[in-house]
Order: sequence, then structure tokens, then C-alpha cells
Amino acid sequence: MSITYKDASEIEGMRVAGKLASEVLDDLTPHIQPGITTREIDRLAAECMQQQGSISATLGYQPSGYPPYPASLCTSVNHVVCHGIPNDKPLKKGDIVNVDVTVIKDGWYGDTSRMFMVGDVSIAARRLVALTFDAMWHGIMRVKPGIHLGDIGFAIQQFSEKNGFSVVREFCGHGIGRNFHEEPQVLHYGKPGTLDQLKPGMTFTIEPMINAGRKDVKEFGSDGWTIVTKDHSLSAQWEHTVLVTETGYEVLTLSAGSPPPPPFVTA
Ligand code: MF3
Ligand code: CO
Ligand code: CO
Repeated sequence: MSITYKDASEIEGMRVAGKLASEVLDDLTPHIQPGITTREIDRLAAECMQQQGSISATLGYQPSGYPPYPASLCTSVNHVVCHGIPNDKPLKKGDIVNVDVTVIKDGWYGDTSRMFMVGDVSIAARRLVALTFDAMWHGIMRVKPGIHLGDIGFAIQQFSEKNGFSVVREFCGHGIGRNFHEEPQVLHYGKPGTLDQLKPGMTFTIEPMINAGRKDVKEFGSDGWTIVTKDHSLSAQWEHTVLVTETGYEVLTLSAGSPPPPPFVTA
């Protein structure tokens, strides 16, 4: 499949889906407290999507070589890098958790994730969460026609490594539209001036997974999905879906509860 460029009416569909995905996270936010299980978070999300008239893109999602994904969202706690499956273990004070929501509305996909800190968390975890958010925005703020995908990866990698963290290589951002995962792949590392040039109408995610320790990851257990850091160090991730406009970018996964861009971003 090749890159799809969205026209004005298609972009409107993407805006609606993106906002709904973000509003699911808004809805979950007050509930993410010590004692809640990730399965309960999943149930709340399913309820919210039902009220929205949206559908979870992850429930039953089955790329080739994977078992069907069994939940309405992903919950990745502490050293889980991504694709954590909700379970019955309560969150506890000091945990950090990524909640990744992808909804489908009128055939359009919106994909976004945020980090949540459960009660008081360590200074190290707080720093990882904050700097991973900044890393995502260092990528987003470069988006405009003519730049290369490698420019985005380079910005994220350079910022993350400068701060002593590592960038996960095995998973990347992706084109998105009427499909969950389209071309292009959006790597979170790379070299300036390399890979495809951006053009108006492209929509893709930027979703860096940043580790406090080494970059290496491995599969956890045998559920076919959960990915953890090999060295058990903490991992964080934030994700937005973005549109390439004629002059720059538009973030499609914003809503009332979205954390504002960091101060260094001037759109
Ligand atoms: N939402 C994830 C992404 O950002 C994909 C999750 S696939 C799942 O691309 F099946 F694990 F849910
Ligand atoms: Co994504
Ligand atoms: Co996602």
C-alpha cells in the first residue's frame, strides 16, 4: 500500500476521529488512580466509545503473525514499552502508564496516547515522562511540506539521547487514514535529509517510545503482544496523529484535556 493524501473532506473525517480518540483519554483521566485495574480502564474506554458512536480499532485487531488483540486500548505500565494488554493487577502509587487509544469513526482512524503518573512517582520517572512528551513535540514541530521523514527521527533521537535516554527502534509511527497502519513508517531515529519528503495531505502518527536505560526490547511472556525493555528500565511513550498542511502541521488528536504543547513549540 502506498501513501494516501487526504483532501479537505477526508481531513474533516480525520479531525473528528482524532478528537474522539483524545476525548476517550480525557474521559479516563480522573479514573487513573492507585487501585484501579487496567481492565477497568479498558471497560471505561469501551463504554465511552459506545457513547461516542466510535469503535475501538484495537479490539480484534490482527496483523499477520499476531493473535487478535483482546482489548479496546493498550495499557503499558512501567517497563512495558507498548501493546500492554489490560489485566486485573491494580495500578499502584509510583507507576507510570501509557494509555493508547485508537478509534474508528465513519471509517476514519484516530490514534493517540498519553502517559499517566499514578500518585506520587519518582523524580526519574517524572523526568522520563516529561522529556518523552518533549521528544514527541520536537518531532511534531518540524512537520511541514518538503522536510524529510529522517528530519523528524533525527530531532527525536538527538533530543532523547542528549538527555541520556534511548529510542526504541522496533516500533514506529505510521501513516493513518481509512486504515490503522498505512505507509509511511515514521521512525523515531534517523538522519537529516533522508527518507521520503512530506507533502500536504499526509496524515501520520508520531509516537516515540523512549527508555530510561538501554534501547533493546523483547517480547514479554507468550501473549503475543506485550513488549518490555530488555533491561527492565522504565519506558514512556506519547502519541499524536498529525496532518501535513500547506505551511506546517495540524495536530488532529487534540481535545479539551490534551496537555498543551511545551513552551519551545511555536506553531
Ligand atoms: N495504537 C498502537 C499504535 O499506536 C497500536 C496498537 S495495536 C494493538 O500504533 F493491537 F496492540 F492494540
Ligand atoms: Co499509532
Ligand atoms: Co496508538
